Amino acid sequence: MNLAVFCSGFGSNFQAIIDVLARKKLDARIALMVCDNPKAFALKRAHRHGIPVVLISPGLFENRQAYEKVIVGILKSQDIGFVVLAGFMRILTPYFVKAYRGRILNIHPSYLPSFKGAHAIRDAFEAKVKTTGVTVHIVTEKLDSGPILLQKKVNVLKNDTLESLEKRIHAVEHTLYPQAIKKLISRKS
Ligand code: GRF
Repeated sequence: MNLAVFCSGFGSNFQAIIDVLARKKLDARIALMVCDNPKAFALKRAHRHGIPVVLISPGLFENRQAYEKVIVGILKSQDIGFVVLAGFMRILTPYFVKAYRGRILNIHPSYLPSFKGAHAIRDAFEAKVKTTGVTVHIVTEKLDSGPILLQKKVNVLKNDTLESLEKRIHAVEHTLYPQAIKKLISRKS
């Protein structure tokens, strides 16, 4: 099964998936990494592991759909079965969602439906909740709202700073995302 992982930044989830695949714990391969940011550290990770990169600037296109049409064309030509969003900081349009309906995964650093949006960890921390978490869900047209595949709670400790909470949430992400990918692949194939 060919996966395309989409990244915009650091790519620690991308790395976690690479590592799990290297241990042959998943019957899949990352055929492509798609990136919208030439400064993303994730590009270095792809390079280190010999993963082909598609780096296309959305600014070159007249609208989001025109950008996505080029990407979908590349994905189809490479026989990509699943799209894994791993810190990709762009909202996909209905056009893209339709092209890969039920086959696009996203990881979100909260226990959805709580704390949707781009600052989920900070929002949970500032709200002083006792638990937050991590969610992997299928992407639909509605932001952070698609069917949930896996979720895990993370307790907010008394002495937590935003940084220490972030660290624990990311550690959970790195084990949960590969598990969720495995679950989706076995369900769909
Ligand atoms: C993660 O916290 C993920 O939940 C969110 O974006 C962050 C990406 O981090 N969608 P990284 O680039 O995988 O390190």
